[in-house]
Amino acid sequence: MASAKRILLIIGGGIAAYKCLELIRRLRERGHSVRAIMTKAAHQFVTPLSVGALTNERVLTDLFDLDDEREIGHIRLARDNDIIIVAPATADLLARMAGGHADDLATAVLLATKNPVLVAPAMNPAMWLNAATRRNVAQLQKDGIEFVGPAAGEMAERGEAGPGRLVEVPQLIAAIETVLDEGKEKGGLLAGRHVIVTSGPTHEPIDPIRYLANRSSGKQGFELAVAARDLGARVTLISGPVSLPEPHGVDIVRIKTAAEMLEAVRASLPADIAVFAAAVADWRVASPELEKIKKTEGKAAPALALIENTDILKSIAQPGPARPSLVIGFAAETQDVLAHAKKKLKSKRADWIIANDVSPSSGVMGGENNTVHVISAAGVESWPEMSKAKVARKIMERAATELHAKRTAAE
Ligand code: CTP
Repeated sequence: MASAKRILLIIGGGIAAYKCLELIRRLRERGHSVRAIMTKAAHQFVTPLSVGALTNERVLTDLFDLDDEREIGHIRLARDNDIIIVAPATADLLARMAGGHADDLATAVLLATKNPVLVAPAMNPAMWLNAATRRNVAQLQKDGIEFVGPAAGEMAERGEAGPGRLVEVPQLIAAIETVLDEGKEKGGLLAGRHVIVTSGPTHEPIDPIRYLANRSSGKQGFELAVAARDLGARVTLISGPVSLPEPHGVDIVRIKTAAEMLEAVRASLPADIAVFAAAVADWRVASPELEKIKKTEGKAAPALALIENTDILKSIAQPGPARPSLVIGFAAETQDVLAHAKKKLKSKRADWIIANDVSPSSGVMGGENNTVHVISAAGVESWPEMSKAKVARKIMERAATELHAKRTAAE
């Protein structure tokens, strides 16, 4: 570990809670500070006195403890840490997390946090394998929650065995430090670099309640941001309206219109790499109505006068001191993919264009996979179909190598 981290440990009510005492000792030995929240059920297994003695902090339990609300407040408690660990996470606690409950301090903090959350489940194997728990775990994973374990083995109940044991303390510490490191310590290829990614659709207002949009899900852009983060970059993700969980460790700027996206990109410069994965609306309504447009009997449907939006990629790729070293665009096409993409490479002055077929039969828009061609001055490289996460990782690795080559050539 490079530096001491602030860890918030949520102790759930299970027999394995005693292992948290050892966990706290080991984490503190490694220089981290630990603050603990115990659920009511956890009090049946370990005492706040022993937890408090080991953390050297007051142990918190109750959402309605007014002193705490004044001193810390559950929102600050949720934010003032580098990672939240839930151990042991019982079936009930997982269900309440998956349902977005906030009826005690532990769940309220988990609902309010924007930091990484690592869950170490522990329960009877039948409960772990039950369809309801399967559903809850799948939902939590989809929401970006990280899991470690459970391990398989003998349970505290006689004659019971299977998956459900809390992982051992060293394994738990390794998982915590892996989540905290996010690849930065692994010599991250993009360590010290700033990467801007635009993502998602833009919404161009017609009136206060209607807008023009497109079918972009934002998945490819979010994966690019995650891949850059995992390679150690500082990442600014400028996203149009999408319903994806916020990746942790990424600065996310939410915008609605193309004009706002352009402004956000400019405000985020300078950057080493800029990737324009957003499906920006080419046109906006010339003069959006300030009040809802009403239909009047006998009157013709309103005609929408459109004007062109500024091409964000083109404007940022213009030569000049603010131009990122590497500018990467996407080309979403439904026909003549390569020909159109090659034209875009030139006209927009991008270093690369990642071209993909987005015709409805390709399943790319909203789907999990993508088939892309990387077009640059060096020619066309066609990649086989792979997950959007894999595409993102390959693009970022290639970008890191290119950046390195450019810097070396300039020296
Ligand atoms: N782009 C942008 N700003 C715009 C329009 C497009 O930054 N106003 C970027 C996209 O993020 C993408 C690239 O330009 O990286 C190409 O987008 P695409 O929609 O494929 O092409 P267009 O330039 O819109 O051209 P056309 O609609 O004719 O295909």
